Amino acid sequence: MTLKQLQEMKTRGEKIAVLTCYDASFATLMEAAGVEVLLVGDSLGMVLQGGKDTLGVTMQDMLYHTDCVAAGAKSAFIITDMPYGSDQSLDLALDNANDLINAGAHMVKLEGAKTETVRYLVQRGIAVCGHLGFTPQSVRQLGGYKVQGRDADTAEKILKDALSLQQAGASMLVLEMVPATLAKQMSQQLSVPVIGIGAGIDCDGQVLVLHDALGMYPGKTLKFTRNFLHENNSIPEALSAYVQAVKNASFPAKEHSF
Ligand code: KIV
Repeated sequence: MTLKQLQEMKTRGEKIAVLTCYDASFATLMEAAGVEVLLVGDSLGMVLQGGKDTLGVTMQDMLYHTDCVAAGAKSAFIITDMPYGSDQSLDLALDNANDLINAGAHMVKLEGAKTETVRYLVQRGIAVCGHLGFTPQSVRQLGGYKVQGRDADTAEKILKDALSLQQAGASMLVLEMVPATLAKQMSQQLSVPVIGIGAGIDCDGQVLVLHDALGMYPGKTLKFTRNFLHENNSIPEALSAYVQAVKNASFPAKEHSF
């Protein structure tokens, strides 16, 4: 799976199935189920490490898990999150992004409207995915896990930021917890694939945190998640059901959207 193929899927209107992945065994199972993109998310700070947010995740953590995922994946496209604090200067971001690519990532993901950093990395040959809407690394500034872009001004800011990131060279965008109408408009206006989580059905693809998709996270169940293991007999079946539901647009349903 390449960036070009993912871009072609958007053009054809074929939905892209993405899941977070943190180890080799799941990488192999996800590929077999047809998941096209494995996201080594810094959500691992919560679902693997038991943190209350993602802020404590280190570059060492991301390198280790990227290496594990790359060992189990043969053809899936791998995106790794730049953890909190890893992009505080342009050169630090470049060093860290290079390390993640060397560990096996095909693309790095940066939260927020960091246009200058995105441009700097892209000009040096690193593929970058943006992440707008609710950005977990800013949970303290955002005052909790809240839907973003509900009013016209904030919606317009998110759309403008997305266009700036695309202009700076970002070749994919994750859009988290925004109204479905805004996500639809953005998916139509942006030329790069938009992958939604809590962003309604009209995105070019969907991503879920693995532990939410399998009902394995002991915390509160979020409105935009669905437990696919609950409806299936095994993990491989649940992963295939997730891929099917993304492809045939039965997930997310209205009740998972804002
Ligand atoms: O870290 C993560 O798992 C993510 C998803 C929530 C998109 O960034």
